[in-house]
Amino acid sequence: MIQAIVPAAGKGERLGSKVEKPYVLLAGIPLIVRTLKMLESVREIDSIILVVSRKWREKVQKKILERYQLKRVTAVVRGGATRMESVYAGLSSLDSKTRWVLVHDAARPLVRGDEVSRLIQSARRTGAVCPGVIPKDTIKKVDGKNWVRETLNRQELRVILTPQVFRRHILMKAYQRAFTQGYSGTDDASLVERMGIKVKVVEGDRENIKITTPEDLLLAEIILKRRLSQADFFVLP
Ligand code: CTP
Ligand code: MG
Repeated sequence: MIQAIVPAAGKGERLGSKVEKPYVLLAGIPLIVRTLKMLESVREIDSIILVVSRKWREKVQKKILERYQLKRVTAVVRGGATRMESVYAGLSSLDSKTRWVLVHDAARPLVRGDEVSRLIQSARRTGAVCPGVIPKDTIKKVDGKNWVRETLNRQELRVILTPQVFRRHILMKAYQRAFTQGYSGTDDASLVERMGIKVKVVEGDRENIKITTPEDLLLAEIILKRRLSQADFFVLP
């Protein structure tokens, strides 16, 4: 059994909107609803654990899930102060039969079902995968005073996205170890890597952007508009 954990308990400070980021409307539909609908379109995912802030939990459970007919969200749990804490809250409520866990940011509503399926297939072969793309820009390392230390070779670099897929016991152990050792990572794979377990990077989809700053919302609307006009795969109006 495969369960998805969707961390959606962040405030979205860099977006700077009035309403918290997951509830911002993207072409008329809350971002979080778009993300969940995309995951629900993936056959391999048995159910979804949604992690939200305390303030929104009741509204999500009583209104949003019903209004948008989200049928595969089986638990709505309360998140924590960091993404790591929120994902861990999701991990703590996994079904006992679950063997694989997929973690996907609520802030990536443009993820496509075929990308998710490809990642799941690849995880079954390797045990731990994340999607990545080669950076478009040149990346340099700098010192504390902004003097360039080194220019990195783009071919060896990957910008990492979600969903990331892992064997349940690997991810659980990785989180537990990171918390006891006081390590904090910005994605799930980094915690797994620290245990010496190999993580495979699979080619990601450049349209699967994370809504972080206001320009991302603009770009997402344009991508959605084009998808709607082509209507060549599952898309919400
Ligand atoms: N997230 C979470 N719990 C937190 C922080 C983040 O569940 N305490 C989630 C966000 O809701 C988002 C994902 O983790 O879906 C990726 O985080 P990010 O894009 O950084 O979102 P925010 O933390 O909300 O944004 P910001 O950092 O700008 O405040
Ligand atoms: Mg954040």
